[in-house]
Amino acid sequence: MAGKRSRCSFSRLELILIVCLVLMISLTVALLVLHFLTRNTNGKCSYPSPVPQGCPGQDFSDRGTGGGLQVTAELSPPPSSVPVTHRNDQRAPLLQMGYANPEQVGGGLLSRLYSRAFIVAEPQGSQRVVFVSADIGMVSQRVRLEVLKQLRSKYGELYRQDNVILSGTHTHSGPGGYFQYTLFWITSRGLVQPTLKSIVNGIVKSIDIAHENMKKGRLFINRGTVENSQINRSPFSYLANPQSERKRYSSNTDKEMVLLKMVDVEGHELGLISWFAVHPVSMNNSNHLVNSDNVGYASYLFEQEKNKGMLPGEGPFVAAFASSNLGDVSPNTRGPFCANTGESCDNPQSTCPVGGASMCMAKGPGKDMFESTRIIGQNIYLKAKELYEKASQEVTGPLSSAHQWVNMTNVSVELNATHTVRTCKPALGHSFAAGTIDGVGALNFTQGSVEGDPFWDQIRDQLLGEPSNETKACHQPKPILFNTGEMTWPHPWHPDIVDVQIVAIGSLAILAVPGEFTTMSGRRLREAVQREFDSHGSPGMNVVIAGLCNVYTHYIATYEEYQLQRYEAASTIYGPHTLSAYIQLYRGLAKAIALNGTQELSPGPEPPFFNVTSLTLLPSLSVESAPAGKTFGDVLEEVRQEYREVRGEVAEVTFVGANPRNSAENATEHNFLTVERYSNISSSWRVVLNDASWDTRFYWSKGTSGRSNVTIEWHIPAGTEPGVYRLRYFGHYKKRVNFLRVISVPFEGLSSAFQITAP
Ligand SMILES: *[C@@H]1O[C@H](CO)[C@@H](O)[C@H](O)[C@H]1NC(C)=O
Ligand SMILES: *[C@@H]1O[C@H](CO)[C@@H](O)[C@H](O)[C@H]1NC(C)=O
Ligand SMILES: *[C@@H]1O[C@H](CO)[C@@H](O)[C@H](O)[C@H]1NC(C)=O
Ligand SMILES: *[C@@H]1O[C@H](CO)[C@@H](O)[C@H](O)[C@H]1NC(C)=O
Ligand SMILES: *[C@@H]1O[C@H](CO)[C@@H](O)[C@H](O)[C@H]1NC(C)=O
Ligand SMILES: *[C@@H]1O[C@H](CO)[C@@H](O)[C@H](O)[C@H]1NC(C)=O
Ligand SMILES: *[C@@H]1O[C@H](CO)[C@@H](O)[C@H](O)[C@H]1NC(C)=O
Ligand SMILES: *[C@@H]1O[C@H](CO)[C@@H](O)[C@H](O)[C@H]1NC(C)=O
Ligand SMILES: *[C@@H]1O[C@H](CO)[C@@H](O)[C@H](O)[C@H]1NC(C)=O
Ligand SMILES: *[C@@H]1O[C@H](CO)[C@@H](O)[C@H](O)[C@H]1NC(C)=O
Ligand SMILES: *[C@@H]1O[C@H](CO)[C@@H](O)[C@H](O)[C@H]1NC(C)=O
Ligand SMILES: [Zn+2]
Repeated sequence: MAGKRSRCSFSRLELILIVCLVLMISLTVALLVLHFLTRNTNGKCSYPSPVPQGCPGQDFSDRGTGGGLQVTAELSPPPSSVPVTHRNDQRAPLLQMGYANPEQVGGGLLSRLYSRAFIVAEPQGSQRVVFVSADIGMVSQRVRLEVLKQLRSKYGELYRQDNVILSGTHTHSGPGGYFQYTLFWITSRGLVQPTLKSIVNGIVKSIDIAHENMKKGRLFINRGTVENSQINRSPFSYLANPQSERKRYSSNTDKEMVLLKMVDVEGHELGLISWFAVHPVSMNNSNHLVNSDNVGYASYLFEQEKNKGMLPGEGPFVAAFASSNLGDVSPNTRGPFCANTGESCDNPQSTCPVGGASMCMAKGPGKDMFESTRIIGQNIYLKAKELYEKASQEVTGPLSSAHQWVNMTNVSVELNATHTVRTCKPALGHSFAAGTIDGVGALNFTQGSVEGDPFWDQIRDQLLGEPSNETKACHQPKPILFNTGEMTWPHPWHPDIVDVQIVAIGSLAILAVPGEFTTMSGRRLREAVQREFDSHGSPGMNVVIAGLCNVYTHYIATYEEYQLQRYEAASTIYGPHTLSAYIQLYRGLAKAIALNGTQELSPGPEPPFFNVTSLTLLPSLSVESAPAGKTFGDVLEEVRQEYREVRGEVAEVTFVGANPRNSAENATEHNFLTVERYSNISSSWRVVLNDASWDTRFYWSKGTSGRSNVTIEWHIPAGTEPGVYRLRYFGHYKKRVNFLRVISVPFEGLSSAFQITAP
């Protein structure tokens, strides 16, 4: 085995580590914002209980609560010149070696990414809370610190680390490069300033808009189960949890969706936030189009339905589908199969008889990833719609927020009177490199490795340094692959300081967690927090977990799951007692909220802000050219003259194109395409779709000598109104004006008109 592997030579690993991986790039952050204001009477029985039972007059509604809503859509940079989308978390410095030459991989845009912001405030009281759900893989510490800095300079003490939650939806088809810890630079080619800036500005802008549009309103909560949309992707880990515990649940995933509905005092619909545990990995790692995956599609459907007659991404109604304890939850419901032989590989190591672990991939429920995305997204949307329509339990009571920064490398946890355990300095295990059935790794790492491999260990020791005996012992039985906690060059590789945070909106407690809790980890955390509220005079709290918040620390598996060292456990970076430590910390926050003691919580050590301005291996943009006799925007391949309005028809046109990063680079808003319909009545063309639509796809394919093509596809949905249509492309190309100066020049391309006829 070792002999065989050694053919994968040292320099190759080095190359992989240094040059590449996952480039999630290309970003369009548009912002949807909702802003909502509730009210609370400061009164007799606000405390100690944040729950309004028996507190007449505390009802938001009859006191004229505030709610506000406004939506805007803003596109920010930068679709990438190297638009290989990022797959499978930040896990895989070993993942993408298949992309020998990432420069030649095409890319593009399927749907836009949005930041959705919600503000809830007490009209008389001083309390406010902000919840942001952003269509990105995860919120990084860098993003959070920069957002907080901007909020402070604009709003002073109004929006702070304790009352602002930033949560990522965990789409795996978004941009990368917005992290300050070194490990993530490997997977996203450094710290890409334009990407970081666009995410930070996008999030802040969504909060600004929310802030400016406060309205009085009411909140309602509802819950229900979403069927046929998830499987547990590490069922063998789940089975390691005690039987007595598992017996209490009917499924090895959490099927419950929690939904918060917002209306204004006149009853106008404003928006919703829902929380549901599923990985947005319906689009697999062969996809190169930026998109917000299954949960993004659910948002799209809901917003399109409520914002009738508006272009996608526009209109006042905002629907956020936020992440939760999705650590071991896959949307690929047909389960894992060997790509080569077609047999099931639903085994503890997720390996195939031929080809090993790298052949074992999950799929379904659709015939391809686009259809799977739509099926899962639609399931989630339909349940949300039902819960939204039926929501009748009003959320009332005061607002409260509790936050601490914690040095997670050395938290001491009291298991019982006699036993105390500790968390560890961060480290990733061997199975981290194996990936999951939602996106396999490479180099034949398998899940469930509890023994190191002498070959890789030696490479690690030479390249990255050997872990200390203390760290090795602390992480047992995890064999350490990346000893990130002891690697500090040029900056630390993983965070020491993480955020723990709870925001309470009346009887709803939102736990903002810095990573991906597995199903059982999430259940234990929610239950422990609920008990803490119960025992301090706040019974009946609705406790939800908001995932991928504030800083990314990979996964949080239970102690029992940890022993098996599948991917999620190998990625539980602070060791076997990570979950116990979080439970202890969140209980402390809950108690503080219940007892009105949040002021007394120690803020903890502030996270570092590294002085890295930009560090990227992304090629810079260079001068571009059109083929002889053509110019930018010229049509290379035309649409047909006629299409039928049936499922499966695709209108398609190819233009002489330019790098989409040019357009994103200096424009705050840029739309890459429109579908236009001719109106006989006004004798003019009307835009019916833009690039935020899930029916349009924008492909960029890079050629040689500065040439590239752009193809626009419109997947004509059944029900499209017959008529005359055309497709338009908007771009910028780079032109040299003199020896020193290169500028971006805008251009457009237009297809011929074509007819859509009834079937
Ligand atoms: C909560 O505590 C603050 C001081 O930390 C105090 O001003 C406030 O009155 C308390 N609220 C209630 C309801 O006890
Ligand atoms: C990976 O290991 C499996 C058996 O464990 C083997 O069949 C397969 O050929 C190996 N693949 C590579 C690329 O070494
Ligand atoms: C991704 O899905 C497509 C179908 O949409 C399939 O052809 C491809 O093999 C899948 N790739 C992986 C790595 O699962
Ligand atoms: C976190 O704690 C460890 C151990 O106590 C210490 O070595 C480390 O410097 C701390 N990290 C930070 C960022 O303060
Ligand atoms: C961890 O904290 C304990 C006290 O809680 C201290 O005794 C110990 O030295 C710390 N370990 C490190 C590595 O700082
Ligand atoms: C305390 O916890 C440890 C580890 O789980 C266990 O071995 C021990 O029996 C427990 N002690 C008591 C008194 O429950
Ligand atoms: C670590 O442990 C090994 C044996 O378990 C021992 O040989 C080595 O000296 C130890 N290293 C240090 C720095 O203590
Ligand atoms: C950050 O680093 C740059 C050089 O890389 C230096 O010019 C600048 O002063 C540093 N800023 C701070 C705040 O240390
Ligand atoms: C609009 O004009 C086209 C071509 O002139 C014609 O075929 C079509 O029937 C007209 N549609 C309507 C609704 O008048
Ligand atoms: C662009 O399109 C033309 C015409 O279809 C084709 O010949 C050429 O290879 C394409 N170039 C790229 C980079 O895809
Ligand atoms: C982009 O930059 C070019 C100069 O390089 C400028 O002419 C153009 O107006 C800019 N576009 C926007 C939208 O800022
Ligand atoms: Zn994940």
